[in-house]
Amino acid sequence: MNMKIAVYPGSFDPLTNGHLDILKRALNLFDKVILLLAVNPKKKSVFTIEERLSMMKETVKDLKGVEVDFTDGLTVAYAKEHGACSLIRGLRAVSDFEYEFQLSAANSFIDPDIDMVFLMAKKETTFISSSMINQMFQSGVDIKPLVPEAVLRAYQSKKK
Ligand code: COA
Repeated sequence: MNMKIAVYPGSFDPLTNGHLDILKRALNLFDKVILLLAVNPKKKSVFTIEERLSMMKETVKDLKGVEVDFTDGLTVAYAKEHGACSLIRGLRAVSDFEYEFQLSAANSFIDPDIDMVFLMAKKETTFISSSMINQMFQSGVDIKPLVPEAVLRAYQSKKK
């Protein structure tokens, strides 16, 4: 039987509970999901690639069917090389749609065989974004309910 593999790409700077929810739901649809740290050249990052990968690995270590990886190339090229048929993305609001629509069109131009699968964010997580979490942490807001344990620890050790 063919294994159904999906790639969930993002800059994950850092991974949030919103991403984690999308990942867990994607696992109901696919046999394996690769949580892929990819590069958005427009973004200036808060955490290094190594820090982000370490938080991602620690967070998913007990989830069956998840792998964590990094690419500095195109996500569709990565997907093809790793036998994946789909890219997963989360949608939080109508405002995400335009950007995702464009990304999806670009990906489909590069490789029409790789489909994009969109999952709607749960309403409790629609306001979460990595930059908002960064901002909240810097302003002393308790971000514990919004991020995985490993991310919280990484913030705390960055502060020291
Ligand atoms: N929960 C919480 N936050 C979410 C979310 C969810 N369910 N879904 C999206 N977000 C947030 C992220 O936290 C992030 O917030 P930020 O902007 O404050 O950092 C934002 O939405 C979108 O980020 P992300 O999903 O990481 O996408 P991105 O736009 O930073 O990067 C890549 C998208 C990395 C997948 C894309 O740039 C890429 O594919 N790069 C590789 C090169 C490539 O193949 N390019 C495409 C063709 S040219």
